[in-house]
Amino acid sequence: MKSIFKHFLPILFLLVNYGAVAQNQAREKLLLDFGWKFAYGHPFDPAKDFNNGTSYFSYLTKAGYGDGAAAKNFDDRAWRDINLPHDYAVIQPFSEKGSFSHGFKAIGRNFPEVSVGWYRKTFQIPKGDLGKKITVSFDGVFRNSIVWLNGHYLGTEPSGYDSFEYDLTDYINYGGENVIAVRTDATMEEGWFYEGAGIYRHVWLNKSNKLHVASNGTFVRTEMDGTTAKIKVRTTLINQDVASRTFLLKQQVLNRDGKILESQQSASITLKPLEHKDIEQVILLPNARLWSLDDPYLHRLQTIISESGKIVDNYLTKFGIRTIRFDANEGFFLNGKHIKITGTNNHQDHAGVGAAMPDELQYFRIRKLKEFGNNAYRCSHNPPTPQLLEACDSLGVLVIDETRLMGINDYHLNTLKKLILRDRNHPSIISWSVGNEEWGIENDVVGARIVSTMQNFAKSLDSTRAITAAISGGVGVGISTAVDMLGYNYIRHKDTDKHHATFPQQLSWGTEEGSTVTTRGVYVDDLEKHYLSNYDRPQNDHFFSLEDGWKYYVKRPYLAGMFIWTGFDYRGEPTPFGWPSVTSYFGMLDLCGFPKDYYYYLRSWWTQKPTIHIFPHWNWSGKEGQNIPVWVYSNADEVELFLNRKSLGKKQMPKNGHLSWEVAYVPGTLEAIGYKNGKREINDVVKTTGEASNIKLTAHQNSIKANREDIAVITVDVLDKNKLHQPTANQEIEFSIEGPGKLIGVGNGDPTSLENEQFLSEIQTFEIANLQEKLSETKIEESAVSDLAKQSGWQKAFADERLQPFGEKYAAVLYKGEFNLPANYTDGTFKFFFNSIGKQQSVYVNGKQLASNIAQSKNGNTFELDVALLKEGKNEVLILTTPLTKKQSWETVNSNPGLIQMVVPASAWKRKLFNGLAQVIVQSTGGTGDIILKAKAPGLKEAILKIPALPAPQRPAIP
Ligand code: GAL
Repeated sequence: MKSIFKHFLPILFLLVNYGAVAQNQAREKLLLDFGWKFAYGHPFDPAKDFNNGTSYFSYLTKAGYGDGAAAKNFDDRAWRDINLPHDYAVIQPFSEKGSFSHGFKAIGRNFPEVSVGWYRKTFQIPKGDLGKKITVSFDGVFRNSIVWLNGHYLGTEPSGYDSFEYDLTDYINYGGENVIAVRTDATMEEGWFYEGAGIYRHVWLNKSNKLHVASNGTFVRTEMDGTTAKIKVRTTLINQDVASRTFLLKQQVLNRDGKILESQQSASITLKPLEHKDIEQVILLPNARLWSLDDPYLHRLQTIISESGKIVDNYLTKFGIRTIRFDANEGFFLNGKHIKITGTNNHQDHAGVGAAMPDELQYFRIRKLKEFGNNAYRCSHNPPTPQLLEACDSLGVLVIDETRLMGINDYHLNTLKKLILRDRNHPSIISWSVGNEEWGIENDVVGARIVSTMQNFAKSLDSTRAITAAISGGVGVGISTAVDMLGYNYIRHKDTDKHHATFPQQLSWGTEEGSTVTTRGVYVDDLEKHYLSNYDRPQNDHFFSLEDGWKYYVKRPYLAGMFIWTGFDYRGEPTPFGWPSVTSYFGMLDLCGFPKDYYYYLRSWWTQKPTIHIFPHWNWSGKEGQNIPVWVYSNADEVELFLNRKSLGKKQMPKNGHLSWEVAYVPGTLEAIGYKNGKREINDVVKTTGEASNIKLTAHQNSIKANREDIAVITVDVLDKNKLHQPTANQEIEFSIEGPGKLIGVGNGDPTSLENEQFLSEIQTFEIANLQEKLSETKIEESAVSDLAKQSGWQKAFADERLQPFGEKYAAVLYKGEFNLPANYTDGTFKFFFNSIGKQQSVYVNGKQLASNIAQSKNGNTFELDVALLKEGKNEVLILTTPLTKKQSWETVNSNPGLIQMVVPASAWKRKLFNGLAQVIVQSTGGTGDIILKAKAPGLKEAILKIPALPAPQRPAIP
């Protein structure tokens, strides 16, 4: 009883609090992530692209003529069932023919069969919604997406990163079924890094009144006067009704728990049909709790439109009260307090799941970065998903929000505009970046002009943040002469002091630094295997080591801070190697988020947390007596190193530096003790371990929410018989799962691993080919079918037009067709997705009757086929019908009896350990109860982890 109460308490709490915020149904934002269908199309072969765009009239010809898979009534039963977010790049194997920059995934130009992905979602809209404004919004789709609703073309979005929205209002079938179809094409790349493919971010269905706050239509800015916050709100209102509307606009500032702190109401406002207006309001909030890195407190602004006392819109904006200021000599100030920016650059993919990251994974990653003192995040080099920004807002990390391509026409400026309008209320964002390393224009006047135009444009939308652009080449020419905040990418050969002296008004920071290349857990270079050691050094002569880079920045207050290239490893750019390395080596953390040794260097100097870390591990069997470099990262004053309790000397820790010893190897225990003010403060130990004997599973959270979205990120490692982590283990571990959870990805941080990241069932479909028919003026008895099938006299099916006279003449049509199965058909399970080709029909496969005299069905019939009935090669389908005929000559009758689907179940999920570690991600499937994850490997004791999935509210969603 007690425990049930404990489980439901958070829900009650949420309901009570949310009640205060969303007390009415004026506006709904429904997650449209669940229950989609997915299949591969083709970039240039229409027959493999579900014949989209091939009809006499197609979707660009006449409204509503979306054809092939874009048509409302297209039969998608044989497609794969998926939920969003979904990335169909990550599920591809690796290939040398793939792209270096995209991590050699077998997708793109050389892989047309898997580079176009189609998605379809069928959903109901109630009759009562008629009269509302209804839109669909996509947080981001890779790429060149085309969207239809009920066969109506809604638009094409070239960008793989922009959020975009389409108006569905007039197209909807109110009180019935609706179908959204989306075609995505990942043939072309936008970036030089892994980008994912498909609908890899959330999709939403939005319902509001015709009089409403525009999407992203609020802009909250805050200033401080003592302890009173001046909250300036601009609201863009739109009346899409056919009549004028007169109303009041109220702003309520709420605290985190939904309590109203202050409010303000406008005088009466009138909007004519299709008029939109910006309304400015100012709310004073005394004793305001500020948003800061240590206390990232978020307020909410509730914007209410009311008409004759009735609430017609209720729009919620999360915001933070904070001030930011950049100074050309002193750097950055948050709430008046100086902060040296200690950031990282990151791309948007993670081990196992690619670009399709559950929201909790964004939080997981930002927390990992914050652990080592990372206080800022540069979204390199594209607009991020909104959930990343929410994680930065909630956890207290500053953000550079970056557009994709520099330029001054619609394609470029619209991306920048959408980015700024969508993201301008995030307190985490301190800068808009209008470009990165545009080598073609960086050094010339074209670049200077373009950056001026973009900067001007950005400021016209938001003048509260610094505009930056990242420059790798020429400083003092081109872009660098015109941008407000100069972003240095790599300063090894740049004289920033001289530049600062010449342009003392220009703000500056290091948008990229580091670019060091290391492999987690590796301490000796192995160039043949593409593994690089973790002792800090520059990548080559063009770069600093991490330590030298940081020492340069920390000494110069005019440089507001630096962003390391990169926080996490990412797929693609496996510099300095190529195939078969598939992920980058730049991270402070690997692709899973497992720390490299750099993590501790940064934690030592980027945080106040007492830190000490020895590396390498102490398993060097065969190197007895040889010198091994031992490094210690720490922020202690002095560090003393001991080998098997014998002191190897005490040394002073240089500020922002590290210590090292050469230690002749003998197995045993290496211990580093850190002293602060002469007193022993902290220690770290590495021990020589034995062989692995046990598997260990550790989840990043003890339970997950049973809401279909939450995840547990699980670390897999192995221990020797003394329970010591084995740092070089590489066993392959096999996983199984039971209960209300599923596996969604595995990884291990090995940049050369070509293993599967997901283990999915294989789906193949087979058409019913060579369809022939036999016409009969008299009824055919079912008992005669098998004899008739053997006789000759067949003609091509549907050669005769199915006009009225055909129906009058023929009482029955017997059809015969075939499908061909591959040799591995015995591994599969089979379904026949049958579509009616008669008014009544009996259906047979290889002589076995599947249905007798069933009536024509709009949605088709599904038959499970026993594998024992099937054979390799040719299989026969017979369909006895009373014929379908047209009422009008321009109608068509269905001539396609459907598809045979073969599903080969997924093999077991597995992953090799890499230097002792692997990761597996488990996601809630919605139910409550215990998820049981098991991990086994030959010779090791199996591990079992129980992850309770606890009752939790699900986000409002379309079923
Ligand atoms: C920079 C670039 C990054 C990444 C990095 C690799 O020049 O801005 O996107 O490519 O180099 O070293």
